[in-house]
Amino acid sequence: MIPDSSPTPKVALIGGGSIGCGWAALCAANGWETVLLDADERSADRALAESARRARILVGLGRADAGLVDQGIDRMQLGRSLLQACGSADWIIESLPEELPLKQRMFENIGQVARADAVITSSSSALPITDIAARCREPGRCLVAHPLNPPELIPLIEVVPGKFTSPQATESVLVWLRALGRIPITLKKEVPGNVVGRIAGAVWRECIDLVLTGVVDVDDLDRAVSLGPGLGWAAAGPHLTYHLGAGEGGVKLFLEQLLQAFESWWGSLAQWTKLEPEQVRALTAQIEKAYGEKIGALGEARDRRLAAILRALEESRRA
Ligand SMILES: NC(=O)c1ccc[n+]([C@@H]2O[C@H](COP(=O)([O-])OP(=O)(O)OC[C@H]3O[C@@H](n4cnc5c(N)ncnc54)[C@H](O)[C@@H]3O)[C@@H](O)[C@H]2O)c1
Repeated sequence: MIPDSSPTPKVALIGGGSIGCGWAALCAANGWETVLLDADERSADRALAESARRARILVGLGRADAGLVDQGIDRMQLGRSLLQACGSADWIIESLPEELPLKQRMFENIGQVARADAVITSSSSALPITDIAARCREPGRCLVAHPLNPPELIPLIEVVPGKFTSPQATESVLVWLRALGRIPITLKKEVPGNVVGRIAGAVWRECIDLVLTGVVDVDDLDRAVSLGPGLGWAAAGPHLTYHLGAGEGGVKLFLEQLLQAFESWWGSLAQWTKLEPEQVRALTAQIEKAYGEKIGALGEARDRRLAAILRALEESRRA
């Protein structure tokens, strides 16, 4: 039985890679108490430092309050064992590598040491919680809460209950996510890749195809997405965009006017499901040629743009 969710739960973070550190930074930025457990002491020390660094960056980006971040970093500790990390946690967030047997074993072990009323979420991008928690004691407390990278900046979270997830567990996670300033969406059934992965996968396949077949260079393709549909979709999703696409006639008129054109494009879109090694090499070479190797600096610039877009969207919602 999951009790009424506390607005500031004690959080255990299992796995301190890119996503675990993002969750840790987000919780710290809200002043929450966290315990972080990684595979060994060295990687855990590194993850703790990385989480604190990413939480502090949020202050510079105008996405967090310095005092709360200091409080959250003070309240962040390393887990010494699964029992010590999870035993008193309200919310346990698993962010291990995307391998089903590894996650299944972890959920089974967490199930042994967590309180019966704790909620356990997986950050998995593609694995269903119905499989991940198959051997977990009391699986009604398990669900997927899938963030986008970087989790401390992008507010959308996909919440995916499994066959056995209790409505109370889902509700607790929704309350906590909103308290963290996230914008959750709830999927009504499990599908491979969830909603976001399927959309990203479909668009990216066509983008790769357009580059590899020589229609457009990598940097122009990226501009076409970011300043074309990407810019529009940040303001209004595809359905609202097309509802507004034919003036007062709404989506009904839009479909009358343009469905045929879309149908002819759908017929010629890329359909492949596998990239051959030489295509992977060609794609990698073209992306590296377009952007070079300064990954850190490119990431920082991307995060500044993300923060600016979020600020603008929030201001326009308030206006
Ligand atoms: N990277 C992304 O863009 C992204 C986005 C959203 C969701 N996800 C999902 O989040 C999860 C984590 O992804 P990631 O990119 O952070 O992976 P990662 O490989 O960067 O990190 C995994 C961490 O788990 C640790 N670990 C491995 N076994 C462990 C164990 N038994 N106990 C404790 N720690 C252990 C590793 O040391 C590592 O620090 C995956 O399920 C992935 O699908 C990834």
